Amino acid sequence: MRRWQAFLAMAAVWAVGGGLLAAGAAWSAEPANYDESKVRAYTLPDPLVCLDGAKITDPKLWWEKRRPEILKLFEEHMYGKSPGRPKDMKFEVRSVEPKALDGLATRKEIRVYFSADPKGPKMDLLLYLPNGASRPVPVFLGTNFQGNHTIHPDPGISITESWVWNDPATGAKNNRASPEGRGSMARRWPVEKILKRGYGLATIYYGDLDPDYDDGFQNGVHPLFYRPGQTRPEPNQWGAIGAWAWGLSRALDYLETDSDVDAKRVAVMGHSRLGKTALWAGAQDQRFALVISNNSGCGGAALSRRNFGETVERINRVFPHWFCDNFKKYGGREDELPIDQHMLIALIAPRPVYVASAQEDLWADPRGEFLSAKGADPVYRLLGTDGLAAEEMPEVDKPVMSRIGYHIRRGKHDVTDYDWEQYLQFADKHLRGK
Ligand code: GCU
Repeated sequence: MRRWQAFLAMAAVWAVGGGLLAAGAAWSAEPANYDESKVRAYTLPDPLVCLDGAKITDPKLWWEKRRPEILKLFEEHMYGKSPGRPKDMKFEVRSVEPKALDGLATRKEIRVYFSADPKGPKMDLLLYLPNGASRPVPVFLGTNFQGNHTIHPDPGISITESWVWNDPATGAKNNRASPEGRGSMARRWPVEKILKRGYGLATIYYGDLDPDYDDGFQNGVHPLFYRPGQTRPEPNQWGAIGAWAWGLSRALDYLETDSDVDAKRVAVMGHSRLGKTALWAGAQDQRFALVISNNSGCGGAALSRRNFGETVERINRVFPHWFCDNFKKYGGREDELPIDQHMLIALIAPRPVYVASAQEDLWADPRGEFLSAKGADPVYRLLGTDGLAAEEMPEVDKPVMSRIGYHIRRGKHDVTDYDWEQYLQFADKHLRGK
């Protein structure tokens, strides 16, 4: 990492750890456009018109022609193509505690080995199941930023052994986690509330898949898939977001084997860069029954063509490892992209998807997130469900709970209890009846 990259990466840690990033405040060194009148005129690609001009007028054509085409475009130009499930993957249930959290939950820890070599890349899945609910239960699955042990003070959660961000808030030093970090991010994970509503909660640490800094893809899961002689992903192969999303699918592979879990009712959720990740996971892997994007912004729910807040040029420069190399061509040339982010949401159709913005999180472009959710609406309608039941951006703290859900809440870039309350209601509405 060069010095300025290291500095910006540090700023990102403050943002992630302390939730300090509001309206690009942490980025004041770099000007961004926050003026709606300076948003350029743009035309979005039509999700229902193929590259060859063919119009999609029925669901069959969507499934057979346009959907595969759009998925390929996202792979080729943005996130890169990911491998499938590794053939030697193994699950090891390392602990089961039937009376965790004062008896409220059963806690399981599962180690997922991605190859036959136990010293090779692996990830640790933490799973809480409500004891009060009849099984199998629906589950929320999400990636976390600092290790599974940070989501709850429960002393039974193993402390991650992977590389972590140094952060006084989690007690992590020399890129190693410490017991001080237990529960340090608990405010973003209302575990008891989720369990009491009858849902399980599963989480993985994103650093198990790929540490979040640019090392040319030498650590993490990428090298496992290099062909002989290959030393980094091709320009159209997966970056870090691809790897994190891939980890979510591997977590779902495990959940499918666990009879306490209803794997047909797994909601995938993520915040910020991990919101981008949740959307990409849900777009690729149709086993996810519901998808939640919390403040995912540029490269997530927000339209790339609006030059508002973070831009394609900026995200590729500061986080060169997140997307595939082909995406770097589009900085300042978003109009040349054959896709925009409404089409990412359309790939999730007709499954329920929830896009959440925060009023002070202008860096993530709340309006661009709303417009993108709205832009997926015609695809949902073609497939016979309602889309987003709002013509205009709703008022602050007035959630819309149609098949595409949306809210903008007051406050900053963060995951709050308010956000979770909406996700639980949305899941009650769209997963319960299934
Ligand atoms: C930075 C980055 C965003 C990202 C955020 C986060 O602000 O520019 O794209 O969403 O970090 O993940 O916290």
